[in-house]
Amino acid sequence: MDTKQHIFKDKQAVAEAFAQYLAEQIAYSESYSIALSGGSTPKILFDHLAKEYKTLIDWSKVKLFWGDERCVPPNDEQSNYRMTKEHLLDYIDIPMSNIFRVRGEDDPNLEKERYAQVLEREISASNNIPQFDLIILGMGEDGHTASIFPHQMELLEDSNWTAVAQHPESEQKRITLTGPIINNAKKICFLATGASKAEKIDAIFKGSSDSQNYPATHINPTNGELHWWIDEAAAGEIVI
Ligand code: 6PG
Repeated sequence: MDTKQHIFKDKQAVAEAFAQYLAEQIAYSESYSIALSGGSTPKILFDHLAKEYKTLIDWSKVKLFWGDERCVPPNDEQSNYRMTKEHLLDYIDIPMSNIFRVRGEDDPNLEKERYAQVLEREISASNNIPQFDLIILGMGEDGHTASIFPHQMELLEDSNWTAVAQHPESEQKRITLTGPIINNAKKICFLATGASKAEKIDAIFKGSSDSQNYPATHINPTNGELHWWIDEAAAGEIVI
């Protein structure tokens, strides 16, 4: 697996380094499509971007999408859109027309179809699949990524670009991107921090047989780059 590992002292340092990387990627591009993730590390990243990159990034070039969303209204505490709004969108100058949220309040089966059409319309395709410039992903303690959980491994190969997924414990419905569109991205960046991620990360990097059961293991871009941005706690035993 040709993975680029970026290891930093703690989650704040991961967020700061990644923000700088992101700003450079955007600066070199005429337009830049990003699928965002929920989770604790993106929250810190958004705070840092809001504070330090408000004017350093030309946000009018950026189109924002979501890799997954909980099926709740946009003002719900669980909404990934709400988190992004409160930590980033409220502070930066980005046209509303560049923000493509998943409508978590709508019927999930209709919304997944609508969102797939939005992706087809807004993002140019490669291999007949919309190709994001960048997809930011997290990894849960069970090895899930986006909202592809271990009990729904079939979503890694779903020929539709979006699917309705379900959280294994709460049974909350989610809309998620599927494996084929994630793996078609130009760049995929995992942001994962904290000691609770170390065991899974070690297994994924070593390619252990257990790791085959973790959705995150199967994120391998067809033609793009795979990056893991992690802190020392998540890196665990990995030799730097
Ligand atoms: C979500 C996510 C999810 C998340 C991981 C890691 O909306 O739940 O997109 O895949 O990234 O659960 O979350 P943490 O960074 O909080 O550990």
